[in-house]
Amino acid sequence: MGLRNIYERYKFRRTMKRFAPILEITSGAIVLNTTSVNIQSPQKRKYIYIEEEAIVGCNFIFESGQGTIRIGKRSYIGAGTNLLAHSDIIIGDDVTLAWGIWVYTHDSHSLDWCERIKDLEDVRVDYRSGRNLIASKDWSGVNTAPIRICDKAWIGMNAIILKGVTIGEGAVVGAGSVVTHDVPAWSVVAGNPARVVKMLNH
Ligand SMILES: CC(C)(COP(=O)(O)OP(=O)(O)OC[C@H]1O[C@@H](n2cnc3c(N)ncnc32)[C@H](O)[C@@H]1OP(=O)(O)O)[C@@H](O)C(=O)NCCC(=O)NCCS
Repeated sequence: MGLRNIYERYKFRRTMKRFAPILEITSGAIVLNTTSVNIQSPQKRKYIYIEEEAIVGCNFIFESGQGTIRIGKRSYIGAGTNLLAHSDIIIGDDVTLAWGIWVYTHDSHSLDWCERIKDLEDVRVDYRSGRNLIASKDWSGVNTAPIRICDKAWIGMNAIILKGVTIGEGAVVGAGSVVTHDVPAWSVVAGNPARVVKMLNH
């Protein structure tokens, strides 16, 4: 094993130790060293649950400090995929999420301009105070709803899954799709907005 590998393993163990208070990981699950966790004002609680034999390499992001993310048994989440909880994200068993996907449980901003202007003012205040740019963001006007990805689903690369969506069991989401509505079980959806392009036998 080269020096670089030893250093990478050391760095990874140190990272895992840091994750320990916020991550519940069942034996046999694998957290790849591409994984990152970003929590606004972290509290003493578990934010992420990873069940047995799952493999994750994604970015876990809790911009408001709320929500939890659960990854089911034997599921795989590729590097560069972003899971953004404000509401919960629940991923079932035997699910495959490819690379570069956005699973986004909130809209970030209000549809109401009078609310949005406050977001911009807060960003300037946070920047000038040397804080993270959403440190004082008011989340009360932001629409949010949980996302559920059911067992055996497969989400193609660079797909975007928006708030409140349930992806049914065994469903397939084509690469680059923007999913705005629930996806029926054992269907293939594709495009923007994602529409059913075929049904699968199972
Ligand atoms: C979803 C997918 C698996 C479907 O493959 P398939 O069954 O061979 O699909 P088809 O070629 O029969 O496509 C059916 C229709 O959906 C359309 N379609 C398929 N994938 C699409 C996509 N990602 N975006 C938009 N339209 C798509 C096709 O153009 C076709 O439309 P048409 O009937 O008008 O010609 C494949 O298209 C895909 O997106 N693969 C992603 C692979 C990936 O992300 N891998 C990463 C590693 S996990």
